[in-house]
Amino acid sequence: MCGINMGGTVVIKWGGGLITFKDQLCTVNQEVIDELAEACSKTDKRLVIVHGAGSFGHMKAKKFRLAEGRIDGLSQDEAVEDVRTDMLKLNKYVMDSLAKFGVSAKSYPPHEWARGTGPKFKGDLPVFDGVTVVFGDVVEDDEQEFGILSGDDIILRYATELPDVERAVFAIGGVDGILRVPPARATPDDLIEVWHPELEFEGEHASDIDVTGGIGLKAARGAEISSAGIDVILINGERPGRVIDAIEGKSVIGTRIISGNC
Ligand code: IPE
Repeated sequence: MCGINMGGTVVIKWGGGLITFKDQLCTVNQEVIDELAEACSKTDKRLVIVHGAGSFGHMKAKKFRLAEGRIDGLSQDEAVEDVRTDMLKLNKYVMDSLAKFGVSAKSYPPHEWARGTGPKFKGDLPVFDGVTVVFGDVVEDDEQEFGILSGDDIILRYATELPDVERAVFAIGGVDGILRVPPARATPDDLIEVWHPELEFEGEHASDIDVTGGIGLKAARGAEISSAGIDVILINGERPGRVIDAIEGKSVIGTRIISGNC
């Protein structure tokens, strides 16, 4: 690094479907977490890591309808606590892995500082003088008592409100970016290299297990970040080389998201 300050901040989302096995309750993909942590140890950029929930959040949140808030007749209190505890467990895997690769990081559980869901949630965004880590969580909500705050909404706020953000990276599992057709039917030609909101794609959203918005929410939040003048790229997080290149702003296989109105 030669004593030169390499500059700005990069915000990166580690998708829940990337770092966990989404269909088996509370199972981590340790190999992927370690690869991501190692990639994040290799940059001079200041990082904000936002991780998703995968099987540590969606399943129980879905079963107890936590995204809808308080529902009379349903005993949800235990589920609220359980999902928060499970998210802290997932976060510990992330923090331990970052520590293993020598990354100085601090975690700020959103249920301690954020209120409300969606992109306009309230609360001052915590920032650490190293790597800041936050995640999708069950938060308090003024109207519905509690709700699910997605990491995709959190990353939007960090990307647009920190002063020196260079780019936002969405690392997802199983695909190289946004595809024209669902992954099972896609060929390499189906990767959309530049996406904007007017461009339709047949996004697959497992709404039977997913309580937030799947790829569609990432694309929409990506476009909002891009309209604030920040570069956005969505990449396959199972390819560590691409993760490093994306953080550094090098050209990489994936989907660049543009706002469409520039
Ligand atoms: C969801 O967060 C949080 C919970 C279900 C508790 P995200 O929306 O960021 O999670 P992923 O990336 O889809 O798993």
